[in-house]
Amino acid sequence: MSFITSQALEATGYVVLDDYDQSADPAEWLGLEYVGWRSSGITRFAPLASYAGDIDCNGFWNHTPPRTDKDGVWISSQVEKAPNLVRRAQEPGANVGRCRVIELQPNTYADAIYNLHQDDNNRLNEDGTGWVVRGWFNLTDDSDSLLILREDRFDPATEIRLALPAGSRIIVDTQRFWHAVWQQGPEPRYSLITSWTSGPELDAYISANNGEQHPPSVELDPQLVADAQLELHRRIEERRRIFEAQGIVMEPPAELYN
Ligand SMILES: [Fe+2]
Repeated sequence: MSFITSQALEATGYVVLDDYDQSADPAEWLGLEYVGWRSSGITRFAPLASYAGDIDCNGFWNHTPPRTDKDGVWISSQVEKAPNLVRRAQEPGANVGRCRVIELQPNTYADAIYNLHQDDNNRLNEDGTGWVVRGWFNLTDDSDSLLILREDRFDPATEIRLALPAGSRIIVDTQRFWHAVWQQGPEPRYSLITSWTSGPELDAYISANNGEQHPPSVELDPQLVADAQLELHRRIEERRRIFEAQGIVMEPPAELYN
């Protein structure tokens, strides 16, 4: 047995869909209830679907009984405020696990590289069922900002950079890729993030929206990249020393961010 995966993600592990006309919808995300939640950078989250329908961002496996990132329960107070966001999360017809809007404050490229992490969407997922992937719908127009993906956390040669204009839609196997966003700002970025179960529904949705498996990666100044690598290692070492002084063994980043 093995997990059911998406044909469209087979080649590269990510896919960019046609842009959605974001300007046609109201800015529903501004009226949602947000809670502080530790992720990549300075973030808050507005959950739309959670473990039990509460305003809660925790992984479904951190509840009793634990389960994988599937069968999210819609939060009625949030759904009322964001019918378009809910419609869009449900549009593929794939099972939805966690669904939330992320608010990310501006950061630097070096911050983003330090924030690279893998998600843990498939903890407790049962072999033979669909692999959980993530959809990112950019809500604000962050055309100069980049979603950064790396197959190897420490190797910039594996880096893919995807621009984030309003309406951009990207689906990624976030457990496979190290990922983070460089938000240039000056305003925060808002994005709808949905955990979807891979299967024929998701495949059909990707196909109907012209999923591109080889989108262009944005070029960056090699010096900026090299400086960020040095900064990455400097920060990791600094953090290791702080933890060591407290007698704590450093956790792997995959455990820190979800
Ligand atoms: Fe993530």
